[in-house]
Amino acid sequence: MLAYVNGKFLSGDDAKISVFDHGFLYGDGIYETMRAYGGKIFFLGKHLARLKHSADAISLALPLSLDKIGEALNEALTVNKLNEAYIRIQISRGAGEVGLDPALCPAPTMVILTRPFKDYPPELYANGVAVAIVQTRRNHPLALDPAVKSTNFLNNILAKIESLKSGAYEGIMLNWKGYVAEGTISNIFTVKKGVLHTPHLETGILEGITRDLVLHLARKEKIPAREMLMRPKDLIRADECFITNTTTEVLPVTTIDGHLVGSGRPGPITEKLMKAYKHEVLHHV
Ligand code: PDD
Repeated sequence: MLAYVNGKFLSGDDAKISVFDHGFLYGDGIYETMRAYGGKIFFLGKHLARLKHSADAISLALPLSLDKIGEALNEALTVNKLNEAYIRIQISRGAGEVGLDPALCPAPTMVILTRPFKDYPPELYANGVAVAIVQTRRNHPLALDPAVKSTNFLNNILAKIESLKSGAYEGIMLNWKGYVAEGTISNIFTVKKGVLHTPHLETGILEGITRDLVLHLARKEKIPAREMLMRPKDLIRADECFITNTTTEVLPVTTIDGHLVGSGRPGPITEKLMKAYKHEVLHHV
């Protein structure tokens, strides 16, 4: 695969950035992860809009217009002859003297990585996965707002280390007040008595593009949905649960901290939304 680095497509060994890059030194950067189906990037416009939101939030001037960034992302698929693909764009503050002042970096570094999309094992979707509620709390929005898709990922990595230790597929973080926030790389939903629930954006989470689509699909399918402040006990007592993100789409959760969710099998509303999501993907291609 050829990687895009500041305007050039380079092979793996040549694709390098400076050791003085503030992305490396300080985690000073932003990113987006996307999926292409049939050669077309799913919700490209929404990913670009969120990239701009993240850039503005950290006072980073994007190196190119959003249109040009979109063209570079599409070109990354073309040069690598990819149809079903994973695409990640990262924009860091760039290389500069050691020091926190962003003005030390004259130009941002922009990197696009792609790889053929490898389907997740079907058993994950058929049986559901286990999640663990971890001790690591999600960043406070006034410290580093989870709505910013930042490459500064230690908060999530610490949560991931905990969830791996407990043998779970994903770790669920609570916010600073103890409300359920989100997974290390996913948003979370539950179903209780036929109503879909998901943590409100005010909880301090990433506004997932998959989350938005699932809420839209729920409206279309006439499934009542509520964004709320969710307590850990609401999670444990749910009839159904699933997590969402761009790469895994809608993934059922059948165990939470060792407790079975409902019957311990993916639930009917989860399955309905998984199907609706697949339909949306087909329609997009
Ligand atoms: N992660 N919450 C967090 C903390 C995330 O990192 C992600 C996505 C999501 C879901 O967002 P979306 O539906 O827009 O993918 C929620 C991506 C997949 C990643 O880190 O690569």
